[in-house]
Amino acid sequence: MSENIDWSSLGFGYVPTEFNVRCTYSNGEWGELRVMEDPTINLHISAAVLHYAQECFEGLKAFRGVDGKVRIFRIEENGKRLQDSCRGIKMPELPLDKFQEAILKVVKLNEKFIPPYGSGASLYIRPVLFGTTPLVGVKPATEFEFVVFVTPVGPYFKGGFQATPFMLSRKYDRAAPLGTGSLKVGGNYAAGMTATVDSHDLGYSAVFYLDPKEKKYIDECGAANFFAIKGNSYITPKSSSILPSITNKSLSILAEDLGMTVERRPIAVEELSTFDEAGACGTAAVISPVSKIVDIDNNHIYEFSKDGKPGEKCTALYNKLRAIQHGEEEDTHGWITFLD
Ligand code: PLP
Ligand code: COI
Repeated sequence: MSENIDWSSLGFGYVPTEFNVRCTYSNGEWGELRVMEDPTINLHISAAVLHYAQECFEGLKAFRGVDGKVRIFRIEENGKRLQDSCRGIKMPELPLDKFQEAILKVVKLNEKFIPPYGSGASLYIRPVLFGTTPLVGVKPATEFEFVVFVTPVGPYFKGGFQATPFMLSRKYDRAAPLGTGSLKVGGNYAAGMTATVDSHDLGYSAVFYLDPKEKKYIDECGAANFFAIKGNSYITPKSSSILPSITNKSLSILAEDLGMTVERRPIAVEELSTFDEAGACGTAAVISPVSKIVDIDNNHIYEFSKDGKPGEKCTALYNKLRAIQHGEEEDTHGWITFLD
């Protein structure tokens, strides 16, 4: 139970909470939200999700602020992206108001699991939507389940806000040029599983994927987008095979607020040698500064931090994002939804 949680030593793992919220789609419409305590689901052995991966998910966070209030970051953006993923793999879109209601409900019901201000931890919110219809032919399900649960989490990469090494290899793709890379569907993560395990076995935080067509440009890194700093510019890849990260979009706006220039364009691998700082960003990753990128195939190292210290601009962006999420700085962009 929540009294026994050591908030400041949490990693990014599943910690049981009390309630989850569900909604079923059948006969062509979404039903009412249901609150459940049971963390398991009863699924047919032939359900569409199990065989043909008709599934998508989201990830967002709630934070306990300096004023004690609970702030949820960019619900609407996550709701819209869930709809994009649904459209992409032939699932019915969940209406945005239902999405928002489910998120607020599950956070409220599990309020005691929201880590205290100053602990460095937050409440991770995981919505998931999948096809439940029993089938064996390859076709879309006609019944779907939407479930949202929460779990308190600490840093995604070991050490938190500290630069760590990443590897780059042309041996792996997580997505195809006209595939599902821009959707948050489970299949992309299955496709990247070998790369993830290999990178960890070799002592790296994650793998850098290149664009799957030409293998020339940086796509993203593990379950995070990539950004680099060059002088006063925030530079991030433009690619049709990466997930449009909500954190990256937010950081681009904060970079402009800090007087920086933002460039969203293809980034050739060799350009890495010209960057002053580099980082991975995402809801789970927040900003995870990159110390070096080891190009395994060419035995070449691109180095950004020798002592593991994050660079100056990465630090400024991280501090600004954190401050907004924790109510230390005003939310001038309308990114926060308060829990009543
Ligand atoms: N890229 C991938 C593949 C991801 O899984 C995630 C995580 O959601 C991100 C990027 C970062 O996206 P966001 O900032 O919206 O969490
Ligand atoms: C997130 O950042 O929310 C993610 O979904 C990344 C990962 C845990 C899959």
